[in-house]
Amino acid sequence: MNKEIPVHVTIIMDGNGRWARARGLERINGHFEGVESVRDCCEYAVEVGIKYLSLYAFSTENWGRPQDEVTGLMALMARSVLKERPVFMKNNIRFMVIGDRTPLPSDLCEDISQAEEETSSNTGLTLIVMLNYSGKWDILQAARRYAADVAEKEADANVLDEDRFSSYLSTAGIPDPDLMIRTSGEQRISNYMLWQCAYTEFYFTETLWPDFRREQFQSALDAYAGRQRRFGKTGSQLEQ
Ligand code: FPP
Repeated sequence: MNKEIPVHVTIIMDGNGRWARARGLERINGHFEGVESVRDCCEYAVEVGIKYLSLYAFSTENWGRPQDEVTGLMALMARSVLKERPVFMKNNIRFMVIGDRTPLPSDLCEDISQAEEETSSNTGLTLIVMLNYSGKWDILQAARRYAADVAEKEADANVLDEDRFSSYLSTAGIPDPDLMIRTSGEQRISNYMLWQCAYTEFYFTETLWPDFRREQFQSALDAYAGRQRRFGKTGSQLEQ
């Protein structure tokens, strides 16, 4: 049994569109309500002492959604970052965004950078929003940067190991997720943290993201507490 609170919890927040449609609303309303779940889960993560909470907010594939939904999501991100900044400061939360910022609206990038800068000395929860992120993108950008360092003789191709490669990933310095939660009943990884989730415990729930609040988060942590993490070893080795 694994009684500890996970250090890093990551969440694939899924089901906003279905939540809205079930109520006869536009999909964007599901994303609005999803922000309330983000707030509740953040507060809960602070209360129970989780150190890192990462949220898959927008994948590199999400650009293929209807234009009005993409624009609405970008505006929602910008509004949320601005609105939550005082809350981050009050709760000692460090805010970070990970992903390819190149195609993001410039005002959103500025708001993100300001929030990152302002909260950079906070030492409680680190809240990481994965924005225009995908696992394959991350591995590719790491490989490209590593190859460039080898070409410039700043890295030695003969000594590449897992730790060194991890240091080129966009998540460098952040421990791999202990627990990955995916809401809405889908059971797949959707090009998310492919390298980092090698030994992550997965928790799938039918609950749609806008309905996922502290009680549901607690259930996920309870399920995690009942897991035995073996990291390739046998159960009896761990019991010794
Ligand atoms: C997946 O549900 C959800 C998203 C792609 C967006 C998640 C974004 C938010 C919750 C809002 C902003 C977040 C932050 C951190 C401020 P879906 O639309 O794929 O739902 P469906 O599968 O039911 O269609």
